[in-house]
Amino acid sequence: MKVIALFSAKGGVGKSSLAASLAHGAATRSGRRTLLWDLDPQGASGWLLGVEPKAGAKARKHLAAASLADLVQPSAFANLDVLAADRSLRRLEADLAGEDSEKRLKRALKPLEDRYDRVILDCPPGLTELADQMFRAADLIVVPAIPSPLSGRALAQLEAHLADEMKSPPPLLPVFSMADRRKALHKAALAAHPEWPVIPYASAVEAMAASRQPVASGPAATAINALWAAVERRLSA
Ligand SMILES: Nc1ncnc2c1ncn2[C@@H]1O[C@H](COP(=O)(O)OP(=O)(O)O)[C@@H](O)[C@H]1O
Ligand SMILES: [Mg+2]
Repeated sequence: MKVIALFSAKGGVGKSSLAASLAHGAATRSGRRTLLWDLDPQGASGWLLGVEPKAGAKARKHLAAASLADLVQPSAFANLDVLAADRSLRRLEADLAGEDSEKRLKRALKPLEDRYDRVILDCPPGLTELADQMFRAADLIVVPAIPSPLSGRALAQLEAHLADEMKSPPPLLPVFSMADRRKALHKAALAAHPEWPVIPYASAVEAMAASRQPVASGPAATAINALWAAVERRLSA
């Protein structure tokens, strides 16, 4: 089982849209047994795949008891299950701050090891205690960034943080998100990091919130498929 986290210190950069899209890619394109675990109490990525939390679900308690399997639900897509976010996750940060183990999240994932090949984590924004726990559970961290002269700097800051906190931090895969090549600053940022995958700005991605279906065709779908292929390459490198 490989764990792929979507992380950024910032909100609104495309984490949840990419978490839903990559989970769908893992399940349907690669035929992996896939779980999307939505850790952001806003619950966007589960919603985008048409799944809402079970009535009365308290993921925060199941995380503590390592009984997350009880909350897993099937999606409408083959091989793809979802652990939807519920409101209890708002208090997760406070729980983890008082916890002595840095690996509670990793431990909570352990019982799912035989059931899934790929777990995609959709994280809330912020370099918080939850983020540090997530870094310890992840095999790869996908970091979406809107193209900007600051993109490289933000990534270097994250790398420095990981080097401070961990002996062997997981690899990072930076991705340009919502790229608009008509904008001079976007073009310059893309040219500065030609090796970073690029997801274009596309209304098809926004429309996922209305259709609650992954993007099926067009440039954004092509870019998402290429990103998923890049993720699989990094995992097997
Ligand atoms: N490639 C894209 N093109 C156009 N809009 C996008 C794209 N990716 C995300 N969005 C939109 O931007 C907003 C924030 O995206 P979201 O995935 O929720 O980001 P985050 O999880 O980082 O807060 C949403 O309204 C989403 O539909
Ligand atoms: Mg989000």
